[in-house]
Amino acid sequence: MVGMERAEDAGVYKLTDELAIVQTLDFFTPVVDDPYTFGQVAAANALSDVYAMGGRPLTAMNIVCFPVKTMDMSILRQILAGGLDKLREAGVVLVGGHSVEDQELKYGLSVTGIIHPAKVVLNTGARVGDKLLLTKPLGTGIINTAQKAKVADEGAVSKSIRCMAALNRKASELMMEAEVHACTDVTGFGLLGHACEMIEGADVGIVIYSSSVPLLPETEGYAHMGLIPAGTIRNRDFRLPMIELATEISDERLLILFDAQTSGGLLISVPSPEAGELLEILRREGIDEAAIIGEIVAEPKGKITVK
Ligand code: CO
Ligand code: CO
Repeated sequence: MVGMERAEDAGVYKLTDELAIVQTLDFFTPVVDDPYTFGQVAAANALSDVYAMGGRPLTAMNIVCFPVKTMDMSILRQILAGGLDKLREAGVVLVGGHSVEDQELKYGLSVTGIIHPAKVVLNTGARVGDKLLLTKPLGTGIINTAQKAKVADEGAVSKSIRCMAALNRKASELMMEAEVHACTDVTGFGLLGHACEMIEGADVGIVIYSSSVPLLPETEGYAHMGLIPAGTIRNRDFRLPMIELATEISDERLLILFDAQTSGGLLISVPSPEAGELLEILRREGIDEAAIIGEIVAEPKGKITVK
């Protein structure tokens, strides 16, 4: 049903009229210092692509690259424990995995879930009049860069880590109770990069209300200090032709909207009348930084207007 021809992060294969499987895979180098936390973030991130489609993850397998000769095995054990605990929280069973020796540590998972074939939510399909909801604040890339530069505030870092390790499960379940038209998770391409994928070649455009976008603490300050990841700058340069700046938006603000996220939130397109209700439910269920951050418009087609 969904394969390589689409810019989707998970594939969908129909088994029967009632049942399809969703498959995805994600792994990366450490994004936090603490091994256990890294395991948690990597697992939350790998599960997210199933949640973004409205699927229910069931099983997972570890993918490990580990420098056995230079790194203590206890580090690997802590990473795997973090991953396993996050899977347990999600109600997902670890069924195996594979490890290789590598110069650089990498960890992630392949995840398999199930979904009703008629209920697959794609990143395309947003309609004019929809509102866009975002379920987690932006800034994990910039805060991570600030931390590497040893200037990051401890509170900002721990908030960023909590966000990255948080499952998109609840947001996905609640979204599936609404009439959702499209959804994606915000990860490496940043909010605007993933929003571009939602409308590329489509008959609709997007307006983003930049001042409504939730941000992690200190993100703006660090952006003004130039603490911007290289990936964030690449995201902006690649997608700039699709962006229209409606008013005076600073370079820093635009970069924040393109900030490469790890395990970011869901970006959900729902009909306007339902958006307010979904937002209220999300917040009531503890996703308190969810916000309506934009809308789908008829013109200009294939463009994102940042207001
Ligand atoms: Co992914
Ligand atoms: Co994704």
